[in-house]
Amino acid sequence: MSDKYDVIVIGGGPAGYVAAIRAAQLGMKVACVERWINKEGKPALGGTCLNVGCIPSKALLESSEQYEEIAHHAGDHGISVDGVQMDTSAMVARKDKIVSELTGGIAALFKANKIDWLQGTGTLLADKQVSVTPLEEGDATVYQADNVILATGSVPFELPSAPLTDDRIVDNEGALNWETIPKRLGIIGAGVIGLELGSVWRRLGSEVVVLEAMDDFLGTADKQIARTAQRELSKQGLDIRLGSRITNTQINDDELIMEYTDKDGEQTLAVDRMIVSVGRRAYTESVVAEDVGLQMDERGRIDVNDHCETNIPGVYAVGDVVRGPMLAHKGSEEGVAVAERIAGQQPHIDYDNCPWVIYTQPEIAWVGKTEEELKEAGVSYRAGSFTFAANGRAKAMNQASGMVKVIADEASDRVVGVHIVGPMASELIGQAVIAMESENTSEDLARTIFAHPSLSESIHEAALAVDGRAIHAMNRRR
Ligand code: NAI
Repeated sequence: MSDKYDVIVIGGGPAGYVAAIRAAQLGMKVACVERWINKEGKPALGGTCLNVGCIPSKALLESSEQYEEIAHHAGDHGISVDGVQMDTSAMVARKDKIVSELTGGIAALFKANKIDWLQGTGTLLADKQVSVTPLEEGDATVYQADNVILATGSVPFELPSAPLTDDRIVDNEGALNWETIPKRLGIIGAGVIGLELGSVWRRLGSEVVVLEAMDDFLGTADKQIARTAQRELSKQGLDIRLGSRITNTQINDDELIMEYTDKDGEQTLAVDRMIVSVGRRAYTESVVAEDVGLQMDERGRIDVNDHCETNIPGVYAVGDVVRGPMLAHKGSEEGVAVAERIAGQQPHIDYDNCPWVIYTQPEIAWVGKTEEELKEAGVSYRAGSFTFAANGRAKAMNQASGMVKVIADEASDRVVGVHIVGPMASELIGQAVIAMESENTSEDLARTIFAHPSLSESIHEAALAVDGRAIHAMNRRR
């Protein structure tokens, strides 16, 4: 038996590493087990989000946006540019540099907080012992902990009708490293990953077709926002085919044939490469020894209560491996809350005010309830919206498409939902989260001074529109 810890965290992604740092801040002796090996063959912290998810995809989104702006829209500003070229290897190298700086930053934070990074595969044994199997050969070491936090994340669902191959049929990870631009790209799943990566490769010149099994586009978003987003993305050339279910993929030497069914029957589509992005599942393989008796839920996730406690006292689970949305910031909040609970505090997570963001252009972001959810729950509400077409800053930015919608409870006027499709929606939504966290009414937002000209004024105007008094719009009579 080796060292004893107050807390051992298994998994060093945004749920696990944040839990480790917060626990160390609170004076505990902490270790974090992580086995990730990066592209250079070196161990890395940060999990899916930093290595092959949120961060690298944002790097590529930014590069592809800049390329599209310069190649196609510079003229709008009176700038003429000739011979614009895209060097995808340089783009990928830039992305890799950002990833390595950020993952290196986590390693530095671990050092500063005196957190032991145990490199290897962690398995929870009985009596809150954790075995760590080293990355290369060698025997496992067993450590004792007073508390264990499981934060092993998620992995992509695979589709038997589109098995991953070499670099031609890939998941999110493979699609971050292509150094040539596919002429024809097929994507399965018009979810967050499909839309973000589809946008990257379309901007770089691929013809992109997205097959989505559901008949509704972005079924969990507010319908009006989803319709607006679909219109904008289609205008850009993303060919989104709803109600289309893949049945088989023929892998030929020179092309891939996607076979799928839609309302008109059986269809085929020839492409050069494919991305499979049909959701993710909790990763629990070899995380817990069988005799531990850890309870799972009906969907194969680790079963936890509102405080992220499992059925075993002193064992917690956070992030993608438990119920709730698979979002990095949700996992991080759970990590902080669990560390504080272990330290004897009474933290609270407001899951109702968790923002969602899809980094397309325009961006899509929301927090709280949609109109459809409120209708179904029989809650009376008032909604006000404002379009970016009437926002001076958005026009100056050449990004005046989309809208903001503020929804307030009819009786109390409390803001219960804010939905945005438009420029910098990922940043704007933070204002809505703060307003809702502070239990603001739409009148509070309406009476707040917003800087002019700014994109944020659209939130102000939408809040004014709840009461039919937006200034720069024709208000509907109430
Ligand atoms: P997703 O759940 O967002 O979307 C998957 C889509 O695939 C759904 O629309 C589903 O109806 C469709 N689908 C499922 N089976 C299909 C089939 N056989 N044929 C056609 N369509 C099919 O999952 P995605 O995009 O893979 O992302 C995984 C997770 O990662 C999500 O939970 C997401 O929240 C998270 N993520 C979050 C990001 C962000 O916050 N910006 C960025 C990337 C991922």
